Amino acid sequence: MCGIVGILGKGPVAWPLVEALRRLEYRGYDSAGIATIEKGRIERVRAPGKLMHLSQKLTGLDLQGTAGIGHTRWATHGVPNETNAHPHIAGHVAIVHNGIIENYRDLKAELMAEGVVFETQTDTEAVAHLLSRELKAGAKPVDAVRHVLARLEGAFALAILFEGDGDMLIGARRGPPLAVGHGDGEMYLGSDAIALAPFTNKLTYLEDGDWAVLTRGGVTIYDASGAKVSRDISHTQASSMLVDKGNYRHFMAKEIAEQPEVIGHTLGDYVDFTQRKVRLEGLAFDWKQLDRLTITACGTAYLAGLAAKYWFEKLARLPVEVDVASEFRYREAPLPKNGLAIVISQSGETADTLAALRYCKSQGQHTAAVVNVPESTIARESDVVFRTFAGPEIGVASTKAFTCQLTVLICLAAAAGKARGFLNAKDEEELISALIETPRHIHEILRGEAHIKEIARKLSAARDVLYLGRGINFPVALEGALKLKEISYIHAEGYAAGELKHGPIALVDENMPVVVIAPRDALYDKTLSNMEEVAARGGQIVLMTDASGAQANEGRNFDVITVPKSHPLVSPLLYAIPIQLLAYHAAVFMGTDVDQPRNLAKSVTVE
Ligand code: F6R
Repeated sequence: MCGIVGILGKGPVAWPLVEALRRLEYRGYDSAGIATIEKGRIERVRAPGKLMHLSQKLTGLDLQGTAGIGHTRWATHGVPNETNAHPHIAGHVAIVHNGIIENYRDLKAELMAEGVVFETQTDTEAVAHLLSRELKAGAKPVDAVRHVLARLEGAFALAILFEGDGDMLIGARRGPPLAVGHGDGEMYLGSDAIALAPFTNKLTYLEDGDWAVLTRGGVTIYDASGAKVSRDISHTQASSMLVDKGNYRHFMAKEIAEQPEVIGHTLGDYVDFTQRKVRLEGLAFDWKQLDRLTITACGTAYLAGLAAKYWFEKLARLPVEVDVASEFRYREAPLPKNGLAIVISQSGETADTLAALRYCKSQGQHTAAVVNVPESTIARESDVVFRTFAGPEIGVASTKAFTCQLTVLICLAAAAGKARGFLNAKDEEELISALIETPRHIHEILRGEAHIKEIARKLSAARDVLYLGRGINFPVALEGALKLKEISYIHAEGYAAGELKHGPIALVDENMPVVVIAPRDALYDKTLSNMEEVAARGGQIVLMTDASGAQANEGRNFDVITVPKSHPLVSPLLYAIPIQLLAYHAAVFMGTDVDQPRNLAKSVTVE
């Protein structure tokens, strides 16, 4: 994770660096720092915690340097204090780094044996010292970087500033993304297009292994073998506007409320509203020819993939394997000759998901990505891109990106079902009609927010919470637990309701709230039996169901959240909303940092 930026400007760059970092804060917010060249010398300012602490420090200073680098950190090596904050300096070099230098211990030992003293606990400092050693030995900056890159193992994006040269920045990429921005007599480096959007829309995305030497006159790019290469300049669509919270207290609240609109927008790309049919164009593969589908993703995106398994198997009779990408990538899973691999990612930069995609490609799979950021590495490396139109998601906890992923995946499953002859026109129309109603249904759920908030107040007093769901709502139960723990820090577990009696029921007592997701579908009675097992042991039940399920439980001592009735397969799109609202309000009652919960980052570009 971590966001990095570099600017060779015409005027002072300190505040433009901070502006870029503000846009990269989703990548980490443990500490931030910048280094600029002031009157020929490197000046560094760093602060632990959120970017505003760095801004406060800079306010009293009058930095005039026109070349600089900046960093916002998600700590991997070393606690998030000021000493470990980037940039790291050794001799005449300052460096910022995103990723992990896996052989840093060996490098550090080698340098310490030569008498180098380390100030920080970071892996990055070793790179700064290696560069400094090269410069001291007489190497020019470009050669120093070339030699040092050859010594590094791991995944990294680097931006390097040299004290003796105010007209040079060097960036390098192995793994995490890095883009070069082309201005008018100015040049930029940044982790993504969003960071550079206020300055330029002309970008060159470095390819894996590339490194780039920037001067104000342009850029020279070398590939992993050291050969000069030319890379295209593209025009990014990233907006220079910073997304704001509007009238909402948190981005998460705003993003929950946006779901009717963004789901409608996403449906607009995959569904013919008039014909009530699924619509998919530009496929590079034939659903009929597929023997198996492999889905990989992380976190919430993985849970969208788990829901997709139910959809593809039911609607298209297509066998599906779903894996968390961090497990899949090293398992060397045998993949069928004619398989399709779908990766799911909001950011399109998640390191494990990207590695899974690359593995699938190396195994000859057709690859497709369900992504929210169309210029991301995952989008660029997949054969086919299925976009979600959630818009920028700023809150660290995924909400609207998740439901848009669900929207795309159910449409893909319907398309596959149709192509494979398992979904007839009538069933298709029924399913698509239900999907078209989803934005309206979500509006209805949002109108009941005050009631959900009251239930969340009770949850916020709990130490542990259990979420139960069956069938297509099992992934929703898992998502409910994930959402609650990541933003409220209340321990929560999601279980397949039928699994309860195989262990977790031992946890249930009168202090344990149990959230049961049970629309009145084919599995309702089964889920209800599992719920009764909990009720018999004193567990406090929060039942999420539709009007008929609510009526059937009238008079019980339960908290009930009523969700509009829909097509059984569409229910995850609806039940996701009260799940999010419960977690959100519980977190607000707990007083946590809802949009930037501790220890997390929005984009996980380290494994
Ligand atoms: C949880 C959450 C994470 C992400 C996961 C994958 O609310 O946001 O679990 O879903 O880190 O991120 P992307 O989708 O960017 O690959």
